[in-house]
Amino acid sequence: MCMVIFAPLFAIFAFATCGGYSGGLRLSVDCVNKTESNLSIDIAFAYPFRLHQVTFEVPTCEGKERQKLALTGDSSSSAEFFVTVAVFAFLYSLAATVVYIFFQNKYRENNRGPLIDFVVTVVFSFLWLVGSSAWAKGLSDVKVATDPKEVLLLMSACKQPSNKCMAVHSPVMSSLNTSVVFGFLNFILWAGNIWFVFKETGWHSSGQRYLSDPMEKHSSNYNHGGYNQDSYGSSGGYGQQASLGPSSDEFGQQSSGPASFTNQI
Ligand SMILES: *[C@@H]1O[C@H](CO)[C@@H](O)[C@H](O)[C@H]1NC(C)=O
Ligand SMILES: *[C@@H]1O[C@H](CO)[C@@H](O)[C@H](O)[C@H]1NC(C)=O
Repeated sequence: MCMVIFAPLFAIFAFATCGGYSGGLRLSVDCVNKTESNLSIDIAFAYPFRLHQVTFEVPTCEGKERQKLALTGDSSSSAEFFVTVAVFAFLYSLAATVVYIFFQNKYRENNRGPLIDFVVTVVFSFLWLVGSSAWAKGLSDVKVATDPKEVLLLMSACKQPSNKCMAVHSPVMSSLNTSVVFGFLNFILWAGNIWFVFKETGWHSSGQRYLSDPMEKHSSNYNHGGYNQDSYGSSGGYGQQASLGPSSDEFGQQSSGPASFTNQI
């Protein structure tokens, strides 16, 4: 049941911290000729991190000329994949919660609910792992590409030691780091839930049921036994079940009910 509460919440955290991101860095280029300097060059970027499309102008420190630059790299595919997985995981876990709580009968019908739930949970666990890993790699690319020291290397003015180039501030990455952490937390949550959904399917107990089911039929035969003719017909069933294995034989010996019933025949 913890899945019911945490899965939608964790998914929201994952896509909100990544998909809602916008950040920036500030550089200063102090030219020998002060009139050409720009001490606050702002470079803003945001989700989905198509950094090669983020352009900005910097002084060349050679007259009025400006140099047009762009950041490097493109992490949009991993970022968008991550957010897409998170959004769909959110929608699915919300829908599954509603079905599980309000349509319990429909959920159990023909075991279809648990079956679908199991398959979807396995798929989402896999997607969370792939998405989080890809986005972790994408984020490390973003960090390098938006590192002020790396951006300064692109500027021709900064190749002249007489001009002073400095990083004023770096982008704040804490929410993106959080999104990666939540991505892997979601993976753990969904992967851990595989076991609980698997139990719902009843597959794990099918081997045990083979032994326990005859016992249940013993007692029901016993309850009805002697009261009506039909029970004699089903006693044939009892004989077959008794021959299934030693465990049901043991049961027959231990309880006097079915044993005395066979004696009557
Ligand atoms: C400095 O660069 C910013 C862009 O980052 C620009 O908006 C501003 O006008 C520039 N300032 C000067 C003095 O050129
Ligand atoms: C500084 O730049 C201005 C305008 O670009 C120019 O008029 C001036 O001559 C330059 N001064 C020096 C020392 O280069």
